[in-house]
Amino acid sequence: MQSVLFVCLGNICRSPLAEGIFRREALSRGLDIEIDSAGTGDYHIGSLPDHRAIAEGRQRGCDMSMRARQVDVEDFDRFDLIVAMDGANRRNLLRLAGANGHKVRLMRDFDSGAALGAEVPDPYYGGPAEFVEVGDMLERAVAGLLDQVEAGAPVTRPEQGTMDM
Ligand code: 4NP
Repeated sequence: MQSVLFVCLGNICRSPLAEGIFRREALSRGLDIEIDSAGTGDYHIGSLPDHRAIAEGRQRGCDMSMRARQVDVEDFDRFDLIVAMDGANRRNLLRLAGANGHKVRLMRDFDSGAALGAEVPDPYYGGPAEFVEVGDMLERAVAGLLDQVEAGAPVTRPEQGTMDM
């Protein structure tokens, strides 16, 4: 797994925080992985992350200077792994994925302590506590994903998994 794209709805709260945490952790483990994030929606293209996501990420030692963009069909060829924050993101990605649906996973699939199908909830209409909670979930999932990468475990689903919507 040499490249990963994190995806949420707006690309201003969850996925930039996931990107920042993953970049910090990959760097600290000495792993050279291409990392980006994007939104399924187009509302915030070009924007910095939400100020609460920036604060939460900086608190965790992350660079939060990324700008929002929308998912593009070319992303499915370019990235080895595409990680959705929730089921709606995942469904929207699978509609665009074509033959690359096996690359699409849910973020909390990589947290062995989370229930099957568990989501990273949208913190946009929440308060600071929701951003801390999302940050903690992302830390666990990032650690789990990087453990799998370091162990050489497959991080994508088998091809037939593309029909599992
Ligand atoms: P995100 O949060 O998907 O985690 O970036 C959201 C940000 C903005 C909106 C929705 C979710 N919005 O509706 O503008």
